[in-house]
Amino acid sequence: MTVNCLQGNHGDKEAQIRVISVTSGKGGVGKSNVVINLGVALDKLGKKVLILDADLGLANVDVLLGLTPEYNISHVIRGEKSLSDIIVSGPGNIKIMPASSGVQELTQLTNDQKVMLLDMLESMPINFDVLLIDTGAGISDMVLYFNMVAHEKIVVFTQEPTSLTDGYALIKVLYQKHGERFFRVLINNIETEKQAKTIFSQISKVADHFLDGISLDFLGSIPRDTSVPKAVMQQKPLLLAFPDSPASKAFLNIAKRLLKTPLPGQQGTIRLFWQRLLNV
Ligand SMILES: Nc1ncnc2c1ncn2[C@@H]1O[C@H](COP(=O)(O)OP(=O)(O)O)[C@@H](O)[C@H]1O
Ligand SMILES: [Mg+2]
Repeated sequence: MTVNCLQGNHGDKEAQIRVISVTSGKGGVGKSNVVINLGVALDKLGKKVLILDADLGLANVDVLLGLTPEYNISHVIRGEKSLSDIIVSGPGNIKIMPASSGVQELTQLTNDQKVMLLDMLESMPINFDVLLIDTGAGISDMVLYFNMVAHEKIVVFTQEPTSLTDGYALIKVLYQKHGERFFRVLINNIETEKQAKTIFSQISKVADHFLDGISLDFLGSIPRDTSVPKAVMQQKPLLLAFPDSPASKAFLNIAKRLLKTPLPGQQGTIRLFWQRLLNV
């Protein structure tokens, strides 16, 4: 299953990359589906996409794609495998770095291990344009950590009250404890765009009132669509299994919107990102 995918296109350490985390307060709101389908949409739009599956314990990016990676980042940390051994090819030109079960170890590395990992990450010979991180749900240290190192944060909500309160709690912690000010909001599994906008203004109102200087951007909504669970059952990305479905069209629009609205200062070199991730 592993591929020798890191050939050609010799890497430019100074190339810019957009690091986007997909996160939520509550689990089961559609994060992994968002990561995969945004990834496929961005790939279709000509971007080189790397997906980092950082959902501790729940590695579902690979399951949703019907992949069974043998190794993950912990094998690299332990010096047993190289990065090209663990990275797997997804649909199109998408690459996936399975990290979920090794994620905790990233925070406990010795200096030697950090330097070794950083060397490898920096010499990856592909210039990715976008790194999408599936952070998992909640406000655990790991979820906060990945959101802090990302340039942009997409917080996924549904209309369920628990999703709203938990998502708001996540934004609040990132704002109060870590000084994060800008969040993109995506409402998933919703009947109409109008309902999504109403939910967004509710979240916005509370945030504006209690979190001074916060900026929430309505990224869009994904409709409730029976094609989504069908694609999950087939272990294929929705955008490839049901390209004409309403949810697929919504994902494409959201990907286009993301590309049209890069934010100043919300990019950096890949080297800088890995350095921040490893805290070196
Ligand atoms: N837009 C949608 N329409 C219908 N069902 C959806 C939609 N988005 C997600 N789902 C369902 O919700 C389930 C959970 O999604 P998933 O991406 O695994 O959530 P998370 O990663 O946040 O835990 C999926 O298996 C799918 O069946
Ligand atoms: Mg998930």
